[in-house]
Amino acid sequence: MAKAFAPGKCILFGEHAVVYGHPAVAIAIEQGVNVSIEKFDDWVIDGKSFDHSKYPHISHILHDLFEYKGEPLKIEIESQLFSAAGLGSSAALSNAMGAALHKLINPQEKLDIIKLAKIGHSAEAAAQEGRASPTDTATSALGGCIVVSGERLTGTEHVFDAELVTPEGKRSWSVCKAILPEEIEDVWLILGFTGEASPTGKMVANVADLLSRDPDKKSIMTNIKEITQRGLDALSVGNFEVVGMAMNECHEQLRSLGVSSDSLDRLVEASKPYSLGAKMTGAGGGGCMVALSRNPQRVSEQIEISGGKPMISKLVSKGVRLI
Ligand code: PMV
Repeated sequence: MAKAFAPGKCILFGEHAVVYGHPAVAIAIEQGVNVSIEKFDDWVIDGKSFDHSKYPHISHILHDLFEYKGEPLKIEIESQLFSAAGLGSSAALSNAMGAALHKLINPQEKLDIIKLAKIGHSAEAAAQEGRASPTDTATSALGGCIVVSGERLTGTEHVFDAELVTPEGKRSWSVCKAILPEEIEDVWLILGFTGEASPTGKMVANVADLLSRDPDKKSIMTNIKEITQRGLDALSVGNFEVVGMAMNECHEQLRSLGVSSDSLDRLVEASKPYSLGAKMTGAGGGGCMVALSRNPQRVSEQIEISGGKPMISKLVSKGVRLI
């Protein structure tokens, strides 16, 4: 049997602005997706017959990327992530599937993480009508703190370039690792799920519509870009007070873009008294918020009291791995 785990992610800074070429900072979380694969007498996934249309990521990885023509497989998926919540569950699934399949087919060959991130990105694009940024798959593959941008930022280390031919033309990104302090003090991420799905496509379209109706709002994107750079600089020197302040500011900017929601605002406000900072994370309209705190239990309680589902993660988590 071949088994792999890949983490989910949350966006710390730069959501929506990244669509306009600005940087996004994403961080791998402790929770993710486990995939196990074994040869079997029939194609089975999670105890049921494998319907390829229901698992486009897995189907693309098996047939288009690995060109698998071997015996039928039994695939088991176990996810610790809230789905459709902006935590990168499909990217984690793609990466864990790619890693497990690699182990099954080439047990002697070392796992190439960058190749895997590219496989995951291709699977995401195949499942999303050719449109996907490499943020989720790169963060899940590499782990730690990842900066995806049209340009290279100070305080980061370049890892690879990603490109994709989308229905709107060719797009390219620079994928970099944020340089974090060796020792991270006792500080945690607390995710709070609103229980509502986060419709990424709709939220991105709403922002595009707002900017075309009110071009003055474009300044919000440059504000987010500046906050992102400030947050990243503070992260790289371990100044978590400033990271938290930047998160609070980022939330206010996202609110003025109209992508937060009453439930996200409620969870953010409830977390703030016990946090260094808190903001919505990802596309918004639902999904999750994230708080940075030295008192994760207290923040979790606040999220629960306010109607959310909490999840605590270390600040720095590793990327995809064989288990
Ligand atoms: O909610 P998520 O993780 O799908 O985040 C979407 C991030 C956006 O910037 C809103 C969209 C994008 O493609 O980057």
